[in-house]
Amino acid sequence: MPPLQIVGMDEKRSNDGMNIAADAAQFTQLDPDCVYLNHGSFGPSPQLVNDAREYWSRRLERQPMQFFCRDMESELDHAAEVLAGFLNTRPDRVVLLNNATMAMNVVAATVPLQHGDRVLLTDHEYGAVRNIWSARCRSTGAFSDSVVLPDRLTEADCCAAIEERITAQTKLLVISHVTSATACILPVKAVCAMARKHRIPVCIDGPHALSMLDVCPEDIGCDFYCASGHKWLCGAFGSGFLWAHPRWTSKLVSPIVSWGGSIAGRAPSWKDRFQWLGTSDPAALLALSSAIEFMNPERTARFRNHANQLIQVAIRGFAQISGCGPLLSQPADDLVSMVSLELPATPGWKPGYHGHPDAIQTLLRQRHGIEVLTGSWNQRRFLRLSAHLYNTEQQVLRCVEAVSQLLADERSDAVD
Ligand SMILES: Cc1ncc(COP(=O)(O)O)c(C=O)c1O
Repeated sequence: MPPLQIVGMDEKRSNDGMNIAADAAQFTQLDPDCVYLNHGSFGPSPQLVNDAREYWSRRLERQPMQFFCRDMESELDHAAEVLAGFLNTRPDRVVLLNNATMAMNVVAATVPLQHGDRVLLTDHEYGAVRNIWSARCRSTGAFSDSVVLPDRLTEADCCAAIEERITAQTKLLVISHVTSATACILPVKAVCAMARKHRIPVCIDGPHALSMLDVCPEDIGCDFYCASGHKWLCGAFGSGFLWAHPRWTSKLVSPIVSWGGSIAGRAPSWKDRFQWLGTSDPAALLALSSAIEFMNPERTARFRNHANQLIQVAIRGFAQISGCGPLLSQPADDLVSMVSLELPATPGWKPGYHGHPDAIQTLLRQRHGIEVLTGSWNQRRFLRLSAHLYNTEQQVLRCVEAVSQLLADERSDAVD
């Protein structure tokens, strides 16, 4: 097989090498034997965040009564204030939850649905989110509809495709800010403006957007914004939030029923239904402030630039492998730190599914020490590559070479 000729990073644009190296050195716990190109699924945290999480857990262990009954609520309030500053919103619109899945379940428990109502999702939505809404619709006699978005995701075409499916029965639209399998940035602000004309509330599924993009739910104009801090923002695992418009906050329903009141005996707040969901360590939530401190505006700009350079190297590399290329035709500036690349469905290929990855994902890990996500979306085989501050051009090139090799093996196995 002839060697691939791939144009590397643009030296003019990537003159931040020293700073990037210093940033990368903060991710001290990463396994040196693994090429980790899957920050988009599970993003490891820098030392600052790990230290913060340990600090909060130690404080809890030292005096649990003091921590749970007297300190925790005000500490959570403080973390919500820092998060609100990051989102350019108000603290009384945001509650910390363990992840976007929990936040989406809160929205599902809250939005009133009756027999015959419809919830609109797009064909790019995350599998677990689809499951949440299928379950909610089943239990209420409502239906969930999947809008097929156009291949070229322009603002106008995207809005038109969704608008066409709106009916008098549509009670909610659920849409990703940045999609999971296809790694696309969707025009959520325009979609919300369109939905407002029809008086349809919009729930944004946003775990990939934090740090990849500047996020401000008010500016987007949505009703709900669900997110996880443990992706691009580099928060600790188990840190997320729900933002809700004030017309919803007092109506929010927790799918987990607990005491429902303040454990510190403070004045009642809508957040009381969410801040005590049974006993659990809130260290990951409290460490979110440290993730925001780490991903300060300067470092975020560096991350976006560096990651995008690596993504462009990946795109150029995969373009040289027969049958590979970007999964969707997106403009280059619609990608930040993650790209989905189509792989050829060689004879005998079986689509992977949750818990059962595509064979190439397993072989990349076993033979090459590379972790990426693969899957199938709308019957098309894809590999999604993520890049963060700790990733290097050599790692991306190693992945391209390895995929090229494995696909060549697949093709020759098919011929034998
Ligand atoms: C678009 C999208 N929504 C929701 C989720 C669920 O996030 P979490 O597992 O943190 O709840 C993910 C996770 O990858 C995702 O990519």
